[in-house]
Amino acid sequence: MSDIFKNFAPVEEIGELVKVDHCQGEIPEDFPEGIYIRNGSNPLFGGLKSAISVFGKTDNVWVEGEGMLHALHFTKDAQGNWSFYYKNRFVETDTYNMESQRKKPAFLPVAEGDAPATLAGSFFNVMRFGQANKIYSNTNVFEHGGKHYSIAENYMPQEINLISLETYGNWNPSGVWSRPFTSHPKKAPETGELVAVGIDTTKPHCVVGVISADGKELVHKLDLQLDHCSLFHDIGVTKKCNILIDFMLTMRPERVMKGGQLFGYEREKDARIAVIPRYGDVDSIKWFNIEPCVIYHLMNTYEDGDEVVVRGCTANAAIIPGPVWGEDKFDWFSRGFNFKNVASNNWNDQKAIEDGMLFTSVREWRLNMKTLAVNERDVTGTEYSMDFPMINEDFTGLKHQYGYTQVIDSLASSKAGSAFVAKPEAVEEDDGWIVTFAHDEDSDTSYVLVVDAKNFGSEPVAKINLPQRVPYGHHGSFFSFT
Ligand SMILES: [Fe+2]
Repeated sequence: MSDIFKNFAPVEEIGELVKVDHCQGEIPEDFPEGIYIRNGSNPLFGGLKSAISVFGKTDNVWVEGEGMLHALHFTKDAQGNWSFYYKNRFVETDTYNMESQRKKPAFLPVAEGDAPATLAGSFFNVMRFGQANKIYSNTNVFEHGGKHYSIAENYMPQEINLISLETYGNWNPSGVWSRPFTSHPKKAPETGELVAVGIDTTKPHCVVGVISADGKELVHKLDLQLDHCSLFHDIGVTKKCNILIDFMLTMRPERVMKGGQLFGYEREKDARIAVIPRYGDVDSIKWFNIEPCVIYHLMNTYEDGDEVVVRGCTANAAIIPGPVWGEDKFDWFSRGFNFKNVASNNWNDQKAIEDGMLFTSVREWRLNMKTLAVNERDVTGTEYSMDFPMINEDFTGLKHQYGYTQVIDSLASSKAGSAFVAKPEAVEEDDGWIVTFAHDEDSDTSYVLVVDAKNFGSEPVAKINLPQRVPYGHHGSFFSFT
């Protein structure tokens, strides 16, 4: 494996909060005190594993591994002197507790591999443990109703303690949600209700939920009555509606067996956007057909006159899940981000298709709610592949001007999980900072960068060296103490 991938290797828990002494630059005076937390995959029993049986071979993929939270505390004394403390800890899901007590893996890996083997692996996991796969709470962290949660979309959120990073257990809204929950729920503007989607390979495939602002009640639940299970990784909100993009990347077993979804055959299928009134029923959904694409992350969605504006990051193919990539997995990822060949439409040339398939850009769809017309365009217009979009969250569901993405030129640099920190007395949308974990491949050291959002192209205002390596991960958030 290339050196560039060594920062995917898991790390141990560091134990108690560790004071971090070394900070280059200065944290601005009006930066809020708080905690920056990022979630990521940290396999409990080492790196990539595979299982070989008479049914074929299956592998864990890089997105699969127990969730580990990495937190950096930003605190200030009465004289205005900053101190920083770091801690990391596993998210202790039910399956983490089971496997860590056994001190060896219990579940067979099933996310990727020969189809008969993945189906057989799922079957044995269900027989032994009552579920097809492990609970990986490794993708994101969010707050709702004053509580904090770790989440990956294969299961319900896990409530966590923001300071100790202890896991309190599953959050099952109203005791009746009882199904997977998106990694990217959204707070609706004005009401503060939390809007989520939950997908499942068995019916109902797609359910949207609206949870009260205090988190105590599931006030609305809608089964979209889809006949297929699309990968809805994200959900958008406007003042009045919930937004889903159905790009028809389905998890039907026959498609997994063909491995069709990885190499773009799905381009022949429709992609469409659902605009759903916040408390609407299935008949109130308006569907808008769009150019076929793959989309995991929305940047923002909002109403603008008669139009609903949807902005998100689109690619030509999907990273997950996929058929067997074998030894060339990392080489494949590198070629996938290749911009030069992204325009190739020679669908008979598999190598040309693979080159550039993961190239991602920001796209905008304007959906006219009166005429049902769709206008779409690329809004980035750069040669850089970009994903992991974020905005100032105070503008979620509202008209916004600024969006931030991460430039992706390899799998490694796509895994940073930045967060926007709004200035406490912010006047303008871009009053704030971007915080992010970063890793120096040469020295194999990790640090946190603070970048002024108003001077995005300039050097970071502060660089805080961390006491241990932080592997590449998924999404992060900053939770202010005030
Ligand atoms: Fe995500």
